[in-house]
Amino acid sequence: MDPELTRLVAAGGHEQLVAFAEPAARLRGYVAIHSTALGPALGGIRFWRYDREADAIADVLRLAAAMTAKAAVAGLHQGGGKAVVLWDDPRRDRDDEQRAALGRVIHLLGGRYVAAEDVGATQADMDGIARATPWVTGIDPARGGSGDPSPVTAWGVLHGMHAVCEEVFGDRALRGRRVVVVGVGKVGAALAALLAERDAQVVVADADAGRAADVAAGLGAAVVPAEQALETPCDVLAPCALGGTITSAVVARLRCRAICGAANNQLGDPGADRALARAGIVYAPDFVVNAGGIVNLAQEWAPGGHSAERARTEAARIEETTHRVLALARSEGVPPGRAAELLAARRIAAEGAGRRYVPGEPSVMRDALLARWARLTGSASGPTSPPPPSP
Ligand SMILES: NC(=O)c1ccc[n+]([C@@H]2O[C@H](COP(=O)([O-])OP(=O)(O)OC[C@H]3O[C@@H](n4cnc5c(N)ncnc54)[C@H](O)[C@@H]3O)[C@@H](O)[C@H]2O)c1
Repeated sequence: MDPELTRLVAAGGHEQLVAFAEPAARLRGYVAIHSTALGPALGGIRFWRYDREADAIADVLRLAAAMTAKAAVAGLHQGGGKAVVLWDDPRRDRDDEQRAALGRVIHLLGGRYVAAEDVGATQADMDGIARATPWVTGIDPARGGSGDPSPVTAWGVLHGMHAVCEEVFGDRALRGRRVVVVGVGKVGAALAALLAERDAQVVVADADAGRAADVAAGLGAAVVPAEQALETPCDVLAPCALGGTITSAVVARLRCRAICGAANNQLGDPGADRALARAGIVYAPDFVVNAGGIVNLAQEWAPGGHSAERARTEAARIEETTHRVLALARSEGVPPGRAAELLAARRIAAEGAGRRYVPGEPSVMRDALLARWARLTGSASGPTSPPPPSP
């Protein structure tokens, strides 16, 4: 047994790790359910090429645990899970049989794991999975899905940034603040636009220089090359590309007063959180400020179904949550990333200690997804077994 995996499985406190193989559909992967203490575990499906099987297992375990913390801090009544599918060619799409096979795998978990999109997944994948199971989100908005989460994610990050500005400058306003947005894809471009509307001095960077130039031209923003983004002097650095960029070694090169962005897993090593605090840089933990995406998804089971307006109202609460995290960091004498983990652990201990979600147990999420399934399939009762594989 790989000692790193033993550590991850044993120390992570995961409830369940499932390996699946659907040879007829040429599909293999893992589902990790980290916690169902606050409700069924929600998390995306990642289609990714892994060099080693152990890397896939380590990834699914880490990602599932992060979903538990994200949902708990966001105040949602759901747990954390994740799925990874071993997928060699990122440009290749899934076919109908592969989507249905994945739906059957998820269905057999009885609603303990509810799927969503993650890296490599598309809405078409969710729609295909939804033909085999009710336990999926992010389907076509015309069928009750919540649509692209990116604008709500950007809205939540903006509110995290208001909190950060209040903490650092004593004023939540973004007017005149210099903000470097690193990665102007779906979330980064939306965030840059929100900042420009508020008269911030926006600077953008992207590995795709053409994309950075287009976004900057549309907003009247400045551009810096992606390699120089982290060292560009600014009030707030907003990492909105890939994770792992803020390592302990990088901290000395940073020229910002605060970090607040959408990218998942921004800290590149366990010491980076403390290194930032020592350098006097306020770090708004990624999973706190980028929770707008799951807040938007949770609208799929809100009374009356998804509402973009309600999603934005809920995501704006990230400002208050960010203040709570930074206040806890001060009172406990810990860096903000650790404080956010403590906040998550304390909520789970207070509201869900020892609880595990059992298939069939009523919950707001389960009941709404079953009702949607009944509407879409015309079946009055929920499915008792997944549809058989097509011949
Ligand atoms: N989409 C959401 O709602 C959502 C929710 C929560 C978290 N996130 C996280 O936010 C981040 C961005 O998500 P997205 O949906 O906007 O992705 P995206 O793929 O649309 O955009 C990512 C952008 O980053 C750029 N990029 C990649 N490497 C870079 C580098 N080294 N330097 C500068 N730019 C680089 C890409 O060219 C692209 O423009 C990801 O880490 C994602 O996991 C997204």
